[in-house]
This record gives sequence, structure tokens and C-alpha cells, in this order.
Amino acid sequence: MRVLAIESSCDESAVAVLDEERGLLAHGLFSQIDLHRVFGGVVPELASRDHVRRLLPLLTDTLAQAQSGPADLHGVAYTAGPGLIGALLTGAALARSLAYAWQVPALGVHHLEGHLLAPLLESEPPPFPHIALLVSGGHTLLMEVQAIGRYRLLGETRDDAAGEAFDKAAKLLGLPYPGGPELARIAAAGRPGALQLPRPMLDRPGLEFSFSGLKTAVLHAVRERALTDARKADIAHAAQEAIVDVLVGKALRALMQSGLDALVVSGGVSANRRLREEMTAQVQRQGGRVYFPRIEFSTDNAAMIAVAGLARLKAGRQDGLAIQARARWPLESLNPLGGP
Ligand code: KG4
Ligand code: ZN
Repeated sequence: MRVLAIESSCDESAVAVLDEERGLLAHGLFSQIDLHRVFGGVVPELASRDHVRRLLPLLTDTLAQAQSGPADLHGVAYTAGPGLIGALLTGAALARSLAYAWQVPALGVHHLEGHLLAPLLESEPPPFPHIALLVSGGHTLLMEVQAIGRYRLLGETRDDAAGEAFDKAAKLLGLPYPGGPELARIAAAGRPGALQLPRPMLDRPGLEFSFSGLKTAVLHAVRERALTDARKADIAHAAQEAIVDVLVGKALRALMQSGLDALVVSGGVSANRRLREEMTAQVQRQGGRVYFPRIEFSTDNAAMIAVAGLARLKAGRQDGLAIQARARWPLESLNPLGGP
């Protein structure tokens, strides 16, 4: 089976072709970062309009690279939510129309299921069951992943997501959007221990997160004295360490409590190098193993949507003719594969 996948839930337009036997044949992505930078964040209407401009050329290029056409494609998967509704609708309308014209099944995929399954694209995929830490711009979740489609929520954030914490701290430091990678970049020059920021919820039992207090602490640090480049680097370093410590601490606790030894870390923040280093070291020390997607598939992309789509289409799942797009969509409401 070979599927085409389309992702357009936020500010990345992406297309991929995945073959069940030959693997990922091609993937293309256009990031709208430059478009939104002057506004300091994603402007939903501009995002939708740019998806309309970018998706068709991306589709043509990606199909050519994959040397695939309607005759070799057996289904079209697209991100149906959660995300910006206008942005979702552009990809959904394109995908549903292509599937209709090509007379193949179409399937709306859950964006977070895509992130969770992204490590399946790697040469050593994670075993099931495993624990997954999903850390993106909108979500921070710990899940027990029993099988594809069988997800049990263990804990989530009460306020900001980890990516949001990175982005908000970066904004307070005057760094350009998107803040996460920028903060990580300048943190490298920060002095370890120059200042200490709180590790919210780390000392409390349970698997919930909270990052809004960290933002306030960063604000105080920013106001405390002159914000030189060196001071910015120190604050960035301290903020990154605090976020990483909390994520690592809670992930270790989830592994311990579940008795599982495999951990998947995915979503945009899993691109963070410090998080990768520290998580790998700590989980190994505990006798477990961590699985990450490759860096380019940590952030939004269509290859991960293809993985989730292929698994579900193969299991016989498909949508009707309606175009599906849902701004909100609980991950736990997904149906497991192989069920009735
Ligand atoms: O998964 P993603 O691309 O989009 C969502 O579904 O939200 O995640 C984007 C988030 C942003 O908050 C961004 O700042 C963060 O991931 N991010 C990073 C890094 N790369 C992306 N945060 C810290 N360090 C990074 N290297
Ligand atoms: Zn995402």
C-alpha cells in the first residue's frame, strides 16, 4: 500500500508519500516562519492563505520525487485536527478532493497521533507498549501507548505547554519567533548555575505539568538587572535546564510507575538537543531506552501523518465524502486498530 499525506494544521505546509514496503519515498515541507515572524506568532488567516499557495506546488514536486501518480496511490491521509481550523480546511479540502478524483479512500488523521508515531519511520522503531512524552507548541502529555490507536493519558499540563514555555521565555528575552530554537541557541553560551529558576510540579507526586510559573520567574529575572547578551544567555540556559529537568523527571516517573522501559519523546520540543542528551542519559541510567524521531520529523511534517494514515487505511479505516476538520479533538477518543 502507498499513501499520500498532507499536513496543514499550523504554519507548515507539508506533503509526503509513504510506501508500506519501500518506506518514505518523498517528503516536502514549506515553513511559513518568515511570513509570521514580523507578527511575533502565527496569524491564522495568513497561514490559511499561504497553505493555499504552497500546497499544490509541494504536491506536484513531492509526487514527482516519489515517482508516483494516481495509479500507484492507494489512499490519501490528511491532518484533520487539532489545529487552526482554516489552515486544516485547506489541506483537508485538497486531500479529500484528490481522493475523490482518484477514487481512493481518504482518511483524516489526528495530528498528535502523527507526532506519537513519527519514530516508527526510524530504522529502530520503538516496541509496544511504551510510554510517550509528547511535547509540542500546544501540548505536553504523558501517555501509555499500548498499540497504535490505544492511548491512555497519564498526565498533561495544567496551563502552558512545554513549547509555549520555551516560546514565552524567548519572547521575554526579546528573541524572534519562533522562540524555542532561538532560546536553545543562545542558551549554549549561558553559564550553568548563574541563576536558578523553579522546576514547577517536579517535587509533587503525579504526572501533571505546569509551566506558567516558570514564565513569571523568567520575567522577574529579566527585570532584575540590565539585559545584556551575557545575562540573556544565562537566563536562557536556566530556563532550558528547568524545562528539561521537569520533562525528564516526569518521564522517568512514568516509566517507573508503569514498569515499561521504552520511552518515545516526540513533538517540536523533542528537537531540543539538551532534552535529547539529558533524557537519553537518565533513561539509560534507569535501564530503559529512549526513541526520538529524527530532528526534521520532531516538528510538524507530513511523513508522520503518512505513518498514522497508512496504519489506519491498512486496517480498513476511511472517511465518507465529507471534509473533516476539527480544531479540538481528544486523542483518547481515537479508535484502536483491529477493533470491531
Ligand atoms: O510540534 P510542533 O512543530 O508544532 C505543534 O504541533 O505545536 O512544535 C512547535 C514547538 C514550538 O513551541 C517551538 O518553539 C518548539 O516546538 N521547538 C523547540 C525546538 N524546536 C522547536 N523548543 C525547544 N528547542 C528546540 N530546538
Ligand atoms: Zn505538531
